[in-house]
Amino acid sequence: MPTPLTVNGTVHSVDLPDDVPLLWVLRDALNLTGTKYGCGVAACGACTVHIDGEAVRSCQVALADVWGPVTTIEGLGQPETLHAVQMAWVAHQVAQCGYCQSGQIMQAADLLNRTPAPTDADIDDAMAGNLCRCGTYPRIRSAIHTAAATLRGA
Ligand code: FES
Ligand code: FES
Repeated sequence: MPTPLTVNGTVHSVDLPDDVPLLWVLRDALNLTGTKYGCGVAACGACTVHIDGEAVRSCQVALADVWGPVTTIEGLGQPETLHAVQMAWVAHQVAQCGYCQSGQIMQAADLLNRTPAPTDADIDDAMAGNLCRCGTYPRIRSAIHTAAATLRGA
């Protein structure tokens, strides 16, 4: 029987086996290719999305185990109204090759939902599981501070 799945505010009926990872549901069934495959073993963070507002590795969550609405990079903001984290990423020109960046942004948005004024140590701790082979970590940290200030209205 198809599985109902809410993604970016739209309810889908997904006709795939229960054990298919959410990552492949998003990319292959729903054509939401902003979420990337990096490792498949919870070691890189490229596949990070939100389930019920919490950052998760979509390569590790089976379709049948999705416990709430899913938000992907495509649904975090809109072209006219980017999320503060996305705006900060643009302002700081964070991306290099870009492959890891949707996961980085989703992880950063989760951090700022929980910690509105993160320290450098908070950022390093929260982002430690999101790898960037281009080494954009200093710009990621700066952009998170900028987004935090924007969200606080500072
Ligand atoms: S692809 Fe999921 S953590 Fe690397
Ligand atoms: S920007 Fe290239 S892997 Fe992060």
